[in-house]
Amino acid sequence: MLIVGAGLAGLRAAIAASDAGADVALLSKVHPVRSHTCCAQGGINGALGDEDSWEAHMFDTVKGSDYLGDQDAIEVMTREAPRDLIALEHMGCPFSRNDDGTIAQRPFGGAGFPRTAYAADISGFVILHTLYEQCLKRGIKVYEEWFLTQLVVNDERAAGVVAIDIRDGRLHELGARAVIFATGPTSRVYEGSSNSVDCTGDGTAIAYRAGLPLMDLEFVQFHPTGLRNGVLVTEGCRGEGAILVNADGERFMARYAPNKMELASRDVVSRAEAEELAAGRGVDGFILLDLRPIGPEKIRTRLLQVRELSMDIAGVDPCDEPIPVRPTPHYFMGGIKVDVDGRSPRLANFFAAGECSCVSVHGANRLGGISLLDGLLFGRRAGE
Ligand code: FUM
Repeated sequence: MLIVGAGLAGLRAAIAASDAGADVALLSKVHPVRSHTCCAQGGINGALGDEDSWEAHMFDTVKGSDYLGDQDAIEVMTREAPRDLIALEHMGCPFSRNDDGTIAQRPFGGAGFPRTAYAADISGFVILHTLYEQCLKRGIKVYEEWFLTQLVVNDERAAGVVAIDIRDGRLHELGARAVIFATGPTSRVYEGSSNSVDCTGDGTAIAYRAGLPLMDLEFVQFHPTGLRNGVLVTEGCRGEGAILVNADGERFMARYAPNKMELASRDVVSRAEAEELAAGRGVDGFILLDLRPIGPEKIRTRLLQVRELSMDIAGVDPCDEPIPVRPTPHYFMGGIKVDVDGRSPRLANFFAAGECSCVSVHGANRLGGISLLDGLLFGRRAGE
């Protein structure tokens, strides 16, 4: 089996396929631990606590999707999420902990319960490293810094790929009995995206050129809090108590979402910010995110990367003053159409998982903390 992309979904698929006895190889245009998953900050959703339930998780996800997500697929995801999170913990993922040793979970937008498990604000980074270690342990072959150019189709079946070895520029054909695309995001088509510079949607375009259907591409998510160059400031800040204010010092979310305030779903918060900016109530084109209600100790321990990025990019220490943020292109809800096992309805032996794919669990709006879950859980299912 050949898996293209070695971020969260690709690595998890490789582990599952290898454990099922397949001979697996990964192909990635970057070293696996440089994949965009490493930029995910806030965490991963799953109903772990006794007071939470998969049904509540499902309800929030369906509602957050503006009722346009596939409810059967959302049921599969929310039912299986706790098992996948615990499996990740058993692989050695160093989640942040509560005082009693259980996995800590923080509130995120659109969620009726604190169900985003996290590792400070470097959740994607630690998950990526955990999964990569597991791949090394299994001796999974990685074609590192190879760039995909084409999906090979023979007799209406996926039969391999064509790729360039970036180091010497040679073109290779790699045959495979099954191919999984886990080629990641597309949001770099936008200026100022929160995505890494390599998130250029190549896998999605290559699948399209091979005649495979894409779906839900009209749904593009704008994250409410990007720094000047789009670099992400996690929703975890608002989950921990940060507030949004306009140039008048007004906590304007009270006018847009009086119940949920800053923890309304992302589309609601981003639209509110856009309206404030359009009405001239921004500060030099930005909204202000004030982390001071969180307190310096928690900022330094649980939001350490956000602090560093704010100081480096905006020249502001969030322990002392609000940071300038604005909506930033963040996530494509759509992608290569697949079912809950990652299967393409059009091409035998072809699968996709992670952000390049569309199981349609996000509908018109993905809730925060579900992209990591989507990649982990549907990556595993595709690999299996
Ligand atoms: O805000 C964040 O930490 C982003 C999370 C996500 O997109 O799921």
